[in-house]
Amino acid sequence: MSLLKEFLSQVGEGYLLIDKDNRVIFGNEFLIKRGILKTDFEGRPYYECLNNLTVVSCIAEAISEKKSKLCHFHHEDSEYSLYTFVGTELTVARFSDITELKRYERSRREFVANVSHELKTPIAVLKSLLETLYEEEEREERKAFLEKALKRVEDMRRLVEDLLIITKLESGEERIKREEVDLRSLTAEVFELFEPKANTMSVSLKNLVQEDIKVKGDWDKLFLLLKNLVDNAIKYNREGGTVEVKAYLNNDSCVLEVHDTGIGIPKEHLPFIFERFYRVEPSRSREMGGTGLGLSIVKHIALSHGGRVEVKSKEGKGSTFTVYLPLE
Ligand SMILES: Nc1ncnc2c1ncn2[C@@H]1O[C@H](COP(=O)(O)OP(=O)(O)OP(=O)(O)O)[C@@H](O)[C@H]1O
Ligand SMILES: [Mg+2]
Repeated sequence: MSLLKEFLSQVGEGYLLIDKDNRVIFGNEFLIKRGILKTDFEGRPYYECLNNLTVVSCIAEAISEKKSKLCHFHHEDSEYSLYTFVGTELTVARFSDITELKRYERSRREFVANVSHELKTPIAVLKSLLETLYEEEEREERKAFLEKALKRVEDMRRLVEDLLIITKLESGEERIKREEVDLRSLTAEVFELFEPKANTMSVSLKNLVQEDIKVKGDWDKLFLLLKNLVDNAIKYNREGGTVEVKAYLNNDSCVLEVHDTGIGIPKEHLPFIFERFYRVEPSRSREMGGTGLGLSIVKHIALSHGGRVEVKSKEGKGSTFTVYLPLE
């Protein structure tokens, strides 16, 4: 133990060891220097010698639920992450200073938001100029060029729009409305949008949501979430395939499922598909259009509603995306 204590006193992270009677048996210099832990901690209950209430409640929650837990907290001018690992004999709390990381994240977000914002107007101008030229052009060959250019501009417009949505959702700046959203009508509206695309691919769309399944949320955001899931379910389907949307209530959440009979996602890619710009087969995905931001938007919308999204998929058989939204 003394070797372990010596090692822990020299690392660049904070460590707090608590025994099964809730007494602190060790806390390192990191915690004392930063004013998180009082100097006379030895043998005292952890809640008496910590100077931060969020830390106390995070550790207390982890211990009472007997489950390891991750929290974030502010102390003086710094931001920390706190991971509490609950073992049978010992609870270990690890503190990492994430101030720099957060600052970096904030400036990255601001940079992306500023660039996207600045690009919005020129893209809109370009689009309307090209549309005018396209309408006035009579030569077929030129019309085809202009059509291609218009498609590229539209891709650019969508990319910028998606980036702006993600940065707003990530920063927590975006206000999430709490209105009553009927999931059957929401699905019907999304399907209406995709009917032409589904028809071209001979994919049938099935709205299996029962009447009266309602959730408190932001209609526009949930529309965007479902739009992205249904878009993928059609885009990565096969000819003659189906897309089914279901919803049901389960304990304290509402579950929304989008199931397709498409190409599926290889197991090794599943942990990454909700990351920005991640695409399973970049070359094939590029042919199909899009940028790889869709599922990241889905994840952020679910999170901003206090929910989450999960995926199950079998290569060659299809995929099911499940969104859990809390009822209250
Ligand atoms: N239902 C699905 N079936 C098979 N693969 C999928 C499905 N949904 C997503 N994927 C895979 O996950 C990747 C990421 O999806 P995402 O929606 O984020 O991006 P995208 O569809 O490629 O582009 P965008 O949504 O921006 O138009 C896709 O490129 C695709 O490879
Ligand atoms: Mg997509």
